[in-house]
Amino acid sequence: MGLRLGDVAPNFKAQTTEGEIDFYEYLGSSWGILFSHPADFTPVCTTELGKTALLQEEFAKRNVKVLAVSIDPLDKHLEWRKDINETQNCSVGFPIIADESRNVATLYDMIHPNASATATVRSLFVIGPDKLVKLMIIYPASTGRNFYEVLRVIESLQLTANYSVATPADWKHGEDVIVVPAVSTEDAIKKFSKGVKVVKPYLRYTPQPDVD
Ligand code: BEZ
Repeated sequence: MGLRLGDVAPNFKAQTTEGEIDFYEYLGSSWGILFSHPADFTPVCTTELGKTALLQEEFAKRNVKVLAVSIDPLDKHLEWRKDINETQNCSVGFPIIADESRNVATLYDMIHPNASATATVRSLFVIGPDKLVKLMIIYPASTGRNFYEVLRVIESLQLTANYSVATPADWKHGEDVIVVPAVSTEDAIKKFSKGVKVVKPYLRYTPQPDVD
């Protein structure tokens, strides 16, 4: 049985392009993204790690630490990183795990044998400061992920962790959010000083509470 939302994210120690790390120590009290790619020196993976590097400041602003993983060896990662920096005009500053033993891939169920017997698929886990799994997305090797979507979901996860709200389809930062069903309309009106728009008894909107 693989990991599920709400499970404790397993800790591990691993060799990375930034030296040996203990996952929990690396995360500290931050949010974390652990994401796998199938193989080094492949085109889609090159663009994915490059895009992540270009968005490093955006992740840092949201208190998110990033960690990539594949089962390729460290010397290959270090050589490939030069290509990523050169071709994507970036500077990869996050660690890339050399998971030759497949320890991380196994803990996080990143090898899907009917997709590939050996390579990791494109799994991505968002881990909260409480070390619980908050989000999992899995893409096939042929499709690069949308890292703006990852940022968008992190904003939703962080907002909904702090307020009794949920975010509607296609929500973006600054747009109205939904009052969760557990809060009565009477309580919502007291709780959300910016106002509550009742469309249906179960569909109530309020302006995003943490923006001016
Ligand atoms: C790629 O990153 O381009 C890729 C990797 C494995 C299979 C297909 C594409």
